[in-house]
Amino acid sequence: MQEIREAGEARMALVLEAWKLLRAIRGPVDTLFEHFERMSHTSACRALLEMGVMAASELAEALGVDELLLVRLMRVTTIPGPFSEVCAAGKNPESETNNPYTFAHRTGGKTMWEYMAQFPERTKAFDYVMQSQTQAAMPTVGLFPFAGELSKFKNDDETPLELCPDIKGRIILQCRSDVIDDISWEFPGIERMKYGFFTPQPIKAAPIYYIRRCLHDWPDEVCVRILKDIAASMDPAKSRLLIAEMYLPDQGANIEAAWFNMTMMTPSGRERTKSDWT
Ligand SMILES: C[S@@+](CC[C@H](N)C(=O)[O-])C[C@H]1O[C@@H](n2cnc3c(N)ncnc32)[C@H](O)[C@@H]1O
Repeated sequence: MQEIREAGEARMALVLEAWKLLRAIRGPVDTLFEHFERMSHTSACRALLEMGVMAASELAEALGVDELLLVRLMRVTTIPGPFSEVCAAGKNPESETNNPYTFAHRTGGKTMWEYMAQFPERTKAFDYVMQSQTQAAMPTVGLFPFAGELSKFKNDDETPLELCPDIKGRIILQCRSDVIDDISWEFPGIERMKYGFFTPQPIKAAPIYYIRRCLHDWPDEVCVRILKDIAASMDPAKSRLLIAEMYLPDQGANIEAAWFNMTMMTPSGRERTKSDWT
């Protein structure tokens, strides 16, 4: 009996040390995101089992379930198992006012954003997560040669850009009014503007319109509306639209992309595959 107890204790001690090692490797942000991985995996397994699913091929049709929904759930569960990936994604209809978030919170026809705006603490927490993610894991601004591209434009505006002092012009940060109101610190050289999608874009003929991590929150049809509003303000001769989003490979997504894709299901958005974008 004592041997069995000691072996059990030694095993638990080893597991604990392994956890400590894993945490040290992952670091604080990635360790936090591990909860998303586990949550996505558990919920996807549960949903798939409730559907009666144990393999992916042609199940969407056989089960009468939406193919994209099935593939999203399967994607999370094929990486650590128990399922194996054998096919790629299709499409599913989605609604910004009828999705897991609006169902869970009974939002009464409001989108997740409209509903969340009623609770400033939730908006604040959400914004904080966006900032932390950006600082820790998403240096996307550095991926595009803003200075080089902007220097190609002749500009009557004499304001030097704080971020690229050799270039003149304005940088305008747009977001929902509750988010703009929530910013309590100065952004030197960056103007803030309250702007909601689905209204005409007030900044006309800008050299660059930059939209980052917004389209993944919305279904395709809504993305088209958002993009049309931007397009209507662009100058075809000089304006460029820059979209910063992750994309999933058509097959073989990694676990981070898979749980992001699951998370985006919450408001009816999704992480799109390379072929979705092209
Ligand atoms: C996933 S966050 C990305 C935030 C930021 N662009 C980034 O990359 O960190 C999506 C943003 O879309 C904003 N948003 C949601 N609905 C909006 C609307 N109708 N008009 C403008 N912005 C909206 C949210 O407030 C939120 O800040």
